[in-house]
Amino acid sequence: MGETDRLIIFDTTLRDGEQSPGASMTREEKVRIARALERLKVDVIEAGFPAASRGDFESVQAVAQSIKDSRICGLARAFEADIERAGEAIAPAAAGRIHTFIATSPVHMEKKLNLSPDEVLDRAVAAVKQARNLCDDVEFSPEDAGRSEADFLCRIIEAAIDAGATTINIPDTVGYNLPRQFAGLIHELRSRVPNADRAVWSVHCHNDLGLAVANSLAAVREGARQIECTINGLGERAGNAALEEIVMALRTRQDDFPVDTRIETREILPTSRLVSNVTGFQVQPNKAIVGINAFAHESGIHQDGVLKHRETYEIMRAEDVGWGTNRMVLGKHSGRNAFRSRCDELGIQFDTAGQLNEAFQRFKDLADKKHEIFDEDLQALATEAVAALEDDQSVSLVAFRCCSETGETPVADVTLLVDGEEQRHSAEGDGPVDAGFKAIEGILQVDAQLLLYSVSNITSGTDAQGEVTVRVERGGRTVNGQGSDTDIVIASAKAYINALNRLRTRAQRTHPQNEGV
Ligand code: KIV
Ligand code: ZN
Repeated sequence: MGETDRLIIFDTTLRDGEQSPGASMTREEKVRIARALERLKVDVIEAGFPAASRGDFESVQAVAQSIKDSRICGLARAFEADIERAGEAIAPAAAGRIHTFIATSPVHMEKKLNLSPDEVLDRAVAAVKQARNLCDDVEFSPEDAGRSEADFLCRIIEAAIDAGATTINIPDTVGYNLPRQFAGLIHELRSRVPNADRAVWSVHCHNDLGLAVANSLAAVREGARQIECTINGLGERAGNAALEEIVMALRTRQDDFPVDTRIETREILPTSRLVSNVTGFQVQPNKAIVGINAFAHESGIHQDGVLKHRETYEIMRAEDVGWGTNRMVLGKHSGRNAFRSRCDELGIQFDTAGQLNEAFQRFKDLADKKHEIFDEDLQALATEAVAALEDDQSVSLVAFRCCSETGETPVADVTLLVDGEEQRHSAEGDGPVDAGFKAIEGILQVDAQLLLYSVSNITSGTDAQGEVTVRVERGGRTVNGQGSDTDIVIASAKAYINALNRLRTRAQRTHPQNEGV
């Protein structure tokens, strides 16, 4: 297979993925995920939208400073200030890229931008030229290309390539296209744009109709050589094309695709777990490749078949995507050095001694309750330890007592430390979790709305830690909170408190697809 057959994997978990309501990540979390993406060997990491806020700028910059083996990309609207900011944020990267975009569909140009097609074209050209002065790797996207007119797309793409764009990305922003139609669009654009051969063609598909992966693969047949995707398919609304599905489809059906990626597939599952742990977006059990049931054979006939000959019912090997590599690593007697070195191997790095101390203390507390500590436990406790130091900890859990018995109304008695002062409250509820949340609300008098509550187990077995995610909304802002513990009622209380602390601290940000500076 020749050089031209390499498919570039452009991961946008840290940018489009992070745009899912509640999935916002701290700087440390982004760096941790970026390191996992680097181990996975993604070619390009879109690390964020630096103009969104100071925090976003610093996160992209921190990723650019930490990653050596993947290109780091910053997103910018076609505004001078955005491009300036993106250029500054990616400057420390070993290899950087600026990705600038502007909408091209009639409905977006008229209703969102209030600009004529010629004005849009001028802005695109100016943006690409400015970006090229800051970085020699520039990507241009005509947003909502999937609903744009082909004639206008041809004009703006030709102009963008002439202005210096090195990658042309075709987004199906609202997930409206069907595979045959999307492939047809790529075919038409690549054959009609006169300078098409001077850029790499990329696609960015959303999953509103469940077709993001199918559309992306269809585009590969028409010459797309970069796919934009996210871990677990995270992203706006129904998400983006899932990286794990794209990569494994290409690898499993090499007979049918003329391309290959450099992805280290054994890193897929650990990366998926890390992303769901950090964002609180859990993976559905039947999700392809990374769902807990993806390689489980329930029916007797299937089990019998797989035991006799694996290929009767399996088209991929579970171990090739990281299943079965889950190791019992540490226990009660493990010391600080063993803890630190396993964290290093997992890419968990603590920037300060305070973070390491906090995480090690949590590890010791957990080891007192649970004999076997797995990699996933370490990821969860590192997330919590660092978040505990990064987020405002004006509220923390001191004690939780709950009484729940058959035929009686559950009662929870909660003590919180609020701005340095202990406060206690008891409340009844429909179940122990409900009672606990009501007791917390009784102390904090919160006016936030609970949007989501979910529990999953971090590893298997009845001594596994339960991991709870809650999503709360107040005044148009949505955040997720996570908590883990071997007691799921306590994990729930921790998650709720974590979300309420985040509501206080995580700053308001500009959404990239909103027009206006
Ligand atoms: O979906 C979209 O159009 C985007 C662009 C910014 C590429 O995310
Ligand atoms: Zn998108």
